[in-house]
Amino acid sequence: MITVFGSINMDLIATTTRLPKPGETVAGTGFTTAAGGKGANQALAARRAGANVKMAGAVGKDGFATEAVALLKDSDTDLSSVKSVEAPTGTALILVEADGENMIAVVPGANGMLTSADATMALKGMTKADTLMLQLEIPAAAVETALHEARAAGIRTVINIAPLTDEAARLGKMADIVIANETEFERLAGETGMGNAEREAAMIRLHGETGQTLIVTLGAEGVMALYQGKLYRAKGLTIEPVDTVGAGDTFCGYFTASLDAGLGFEEALARAAVAGSLACLKPGAQPAIPLAGDVAEKL
Ligand code: RIB
Repeated sequence: MITVFGSINMDLIATTTRLPKPGETVAGTGFTTAAGGKGANQALAARRAGANVKMAGAVGKDGFATEAVALLKDSDTDLSSVKSVEAPTGTALILVEADGENMIAVVPGANGMLTSADATMALKGMTKADTLMLQLEIPAAAVETALHEARAAGIRTVINIAPLTDEAARLGKMADIVIANETEFERLAGETGMGNAEREAAMIRLHGETGQTLIVTLGAEGVMALYQGKLYRAKGLTIEPVDTVGAGDTFCGYFTASLDAGLGFEEALARAAVAGSLACLKPGAQPAIPLAGDVAEKL
């Protein structure tokens, strides 16, 4: 069983031929809304990968609240720990240009109202056989409490240190498994401008210091990881991306669900890398998360 304590957003997505520069207006080519939020995306990915998933978070009492959790509800994710608060549902304003590149501004709204008490509630009933997944789109204090309490209870913790915040390195070091992209990993390691060799050296150093499992996603280059003293690499699929929003979340959800199902580390990594690639082939975050059968076909 996986509990995700994190954000739930409504994504407002405009497509453009190219992204605007600061102060510039460009014509949009399309508009759509889709359920999103890093927490909710990761929960849905884990559920589509086959895990039993509980989502803990918050939505507002507005028109977006129902739509933001609709796909989670359809997938039979446990939503009993999603509370309704006096704030707008979180929103993400997303621009995607023709080659798939994007810009995102996230307004936390209800996600910003989550507290340490909510963290304690989210962990209620979890056992050592369960996994807690976290990201950084909810208040740092709530994430910190969840990490403290989970570790004290022997619950496995996975943190995706996205989006990058001032607390990313500190909180990242508190989890059993950290998932980061290249920039986020530089923050964790306290270094900048890393090439492949420097990244590998920093992973070995950090792993030696903390004993944590480190996973760094490298976009089209796949993923590298350090687990129990051994370095692993996995490749995704060779694709022409349509929209990469939510691809990292799909990776996180599939990876955690695969570990939860008892797959070996290397297998979990390979499955998650393929799922992340498939998530780039459709627009939107949650609508693009592949089903387990589609991922299995490509492995
Ligand atoms: O990781 C993608 C997500 O980031 C989007 O769904 C959006 O809501 C933002 O939070």
